[in-house]
Amino acid sequence: MAEDEQTGDADNADDPADTDGRPALADQRDVESVYQPAEDSDLLARAAYEQVGEGDRVLDVGTGSGYVAATMGEAGADAVGVDVNPLACRQARENSVWVVRGNLLEPFRDGIFDLVTFNPPYLPTPKEKEWDDWMEHALSGGEDGRRLVDPFLASVGRVLAPDGAALLLVSSLTDPDAVCEYGREHGLTSARVASEKHPYEELSVLRFTQE
Ligand SMILES: C[S@@+](CC[C@H](N)C(=O)[O-])C[C@H]1O[C@@H](n2cnc3c(N)ncnc32)[C@H](O)[C@@H]1O
Repeated sequence: MAEDEQTGDADNADDPADTDGRPALADQRDVESVYQPAEDSDLLARAAYEQVGEGDRVLDVGTGSGYVAATMGEAGADAVGVDVNPLACRQARENSVWVVRGNLLEPFRDGIFDLVTFNPPYLPTPKEKEWDDWMEHALSGGEDGRRLVDPFLASVGRVLAPDGAALLLVSSLTDPDAVCEYGREHGLTSARVASEKHPYEELSVLRFTQE
């Protein structure tokens, strides 16, 4: 979709008080077309920085501005990002991040990454609030918040090197136990490596490895 088709009129949106006071999707429309680093990005970036070493091959899925990928680059990793939003790809490139436009892990070969990170769109969003603009792609996790988490977990094992791992940002809004259970069903063991409480949610970083 063209850039000028991506902005909607926030005045027409309902007041979505169903996010328990957390800044809602409608509040963030007409503001940005690319998700800018926030507390979730920062928690994931700090966890990733601890886990990567010089020369590691790493992938940041849904890279947005490229913040997490750039942080892994600062730790010496060979980082690439992927995003479905062409405006995000442009911004990540401006921030010196190698980036591919694509869907989740689809553009990548099997078994090549030492670490894959993902800060997914996760706000639970009822169907009637879906507008199909870029901010929605960045924030909406569908009805249960796991719209992209599930396909990510179902396919991340394919691109991981034998000792590779994935770091996934999850919120208490999207049932982390269900996320771990879904990972288990797809051959992944999980461990919580970071967490942070915020007024309306608890954010965690889960580390997944292949069983
Ligand atoms: C919550 S934002 C995170 C942005 C950035 N990683 C950060 O932490 O600041 C989620 C990102 O996922 C991207 N995204 C949404 N659906 C995607 C898909 N199917 N494949 C790749 N990226 C996707 C969005 O465009 C958005 O940039």
